[in-house]
Amino acid sequence: MKRMVPLMKALLCWCVLCEFARGVRAQFPRACSTVEAIESKRCCPSPSADAEDACGARSGRGACDTVRTDTRPWGGTYTLRNVDDRERWPTKFYTQTCTCFGNFAGYDCGECKFGWTGPNCNLRKPPVKRKNIMSLSVEERQIFLEALQRSKRTVHPQYVIATEHWLGLIDRETNQTRFSNISVYDLFVWQHYYSVRDTLLGPGRPFKGIDFSHKGPAFITWHRYHLLSLERDLQKLIGDENFAIPYWNFATGGSECDVCTDELLGGEDPSDPSLISPRSPFSDWGIVCNSLDDYNRLVTLCNGTREGPLRRGPKERGNITLPTKDDVHSCLQLRDFDRPPYLTNSTFSFRNTLEGFDKSDGELDSAVTGLHNLVHDFLSGTNALSHSAANDPIFVVLHAFTDAIFEEWLRRFPKEDSFPEEMAPIGHNRHFNMVPFFPPVTNEEIYIPSVELGYSYEIDLADAGQSSAAFVVAGSCLALLVLILLLVLYARQRRRREYEPLVSSGYAAVKYTEDA
Ligand SMILES: *[C@@H]1O[C@H](CO)[C@@H](O)[C@H](O)[C@H]1NC(C)=O
Ligand SMILES: *[C@@H]1O[C@H](CO)[C@@H](O)[C@H](O)[C@H]1NC(C)=O
Ligand SMILES: *[C@@H]1O[C@H](CO)[C@@H](O)[C@H](O)[C@H]1NC(C)=O
Ligand SMILES: *[C@@H]1O[C@H](CO)[C@@H](O)[C@H](O)[C@H]1NC(C)=O
Ligand SMILES: *[C@@H]1O[C@H](CO)[C@@H](O)[C@H](O)[C@H]1NC(C)=O
Repeated sequence: MKRMVPLMKALLCWCVLCEFARGVRAQFPRACSTVEAIESKRCCPSPSADAEDACGARSGRGACDTVRTDTRPWGGTYTLRNVDDRERWPTKFYTQTCTCFGNFAGYDCGECKFGWTGPNCNLRKPPVKRKNIMSLSVEERQIFLEALQRSKRTVHPQYVIATEHWLGLIDRETNQTRFSNISVYDLFVWQHYYSVRDTLLGPGRPFKGIDFSHKGPAFITWHRYHLLSLERDLQKLIGDENFAIPYWNFATGGSECDVCTDELLGGEDPSDPSLISPRSPFSDWGIVCNSLDDYNRLVTLCNGTREGPLRRGPKERGNITLPTKDDVHSCLQLRDFDRPPYLTNSTFSFRNTLEGFDKSDGELDSAVTGLHNLVHDFLSGTNALSHSAANDPIFVVLHAFTDAIFEEWLRRFPKEDSFPEEMAPIGHNRHFNMVPFFPPVTNEEIYIPSVELGYSYEIDLADAGQSSAAFVVAGSCLALLVLILLLVLYARQRRRREYEPLVSSGYAAVKYTEDA
């Protein structure tokens, strides 16, 4: 029996590795960065040593297939056609990709869908728990911070970035493609930049009315997937399938950045408060993808070169205060996920309110900056520009909390189905493939409860603010009334002892936000 242990460990290790160390969803797989792949527009690699086994077809994992894209009309300000490489994503690059069967996933069908595990991807993965960054143990905090540092240093094992505009992707002189290695964390930054960048119409002629990840319904699904991808990359990097990123409960209503300490995501440099303290390893983080105007002028893409230090703006912050618990509670009352015109002027839209263009009760007030947007403004510096905001590691924990609020909303309104199929801005229709994730994944596939995607939040958004305090008071009164009633009943019919379920169901109907 004892001799079995090392063998079993080795087997287990092998299984974890073989399931774990394969390609994921994001920019372009290195395997498809060749001239042949770009010229044939075919990205169907093999997940095994057998190079001919495209998409793992021989073991029934998937098949090489024509990419499906959204064909419904879009709305919004982008009215041009066929001038942006992100239209009908990813068909400007590849028209054939792996379609994976069952729970298989990845660009070569070599891994499992989020939320599944095992050699055949048929076992539910127990959800990893995303916790409050303030309640992590010293050890958990170190693991998270060290994972971030490693992700900044380590070249992404599977994905490379395009460094040129799609028409110039092949250098005809050298007959080589223009792709570049990038670190795991910088890929995360690049993806965000790529989704918000302008359309390149010519030297210094950017078209700015386009954004595949903000100002529309995909804001929520896009950022959810973005975080999931990073979380899986970090899990692989540290070899722990159960690792979860933490969240930052920014709804403190305060004027201090409580995660901006050297123990967490970096304090202020005393000699220049816009820089990170030299005592924090984040002070060495060089930012990427910040020079949007240069890329527009040169008609090129961010190539991942470091462009200076991370900055936060305690001066610009001025008297801005963070959102409050009441703001969170208030946006969670909005029943509609989104509402026409699915833009920044949508009213009583949960998405637009959480994103921060409406007041927290959903009313439109163009002077207002709320929730998610307000936190970016509060942090300021690198955080204030959407193309470079993801450079700050605070982005990870800020968006985890934003996602936790969405998860609570989804729990409250599970039947709510107002994610639009059409007339949302480009990239935001329900069946659009989110840009630039690869292999293709639609907004709809991510608009599901987080446990189905393999994670959950250790959070209780029930006690968010006064209005919910009122709820608790009302709830307690109701519970007391029910209790008195039951006691009366009990006194009358002593033999019947079914009051407990009655009490708890009466209570549950009021305290509906427990156990998020
Ligand atoms: C460029 O390289 C690819 C393979 O790498 C080859 O198939 C193709 O013929 C080459 N084209 C030219 C013009 O040399
Ligand atoms: C890119 O990274 C891969 C894997 O780490 C490595 O094999 C390759 O040589 C790198 N390419 C360049 C141009 O640095
Ligand atoms: C990368 O981009 C920067 C800024 O746009 C540019 O200065 C640099 O030459 C580029 N590097 C390469 C290798 O293309
Ligand atoms: C915050 O500062 C602005 C000007 O910088 C001022 O107009 C505003 O009244 C201030 N708000 C509060 C709440 O102090
Ligand atoms: C919302 O904004 C869009 C684009 O700016 C504009 O065309 C539309 O008229 C606005 N709708 C409302 C109801 O304000």
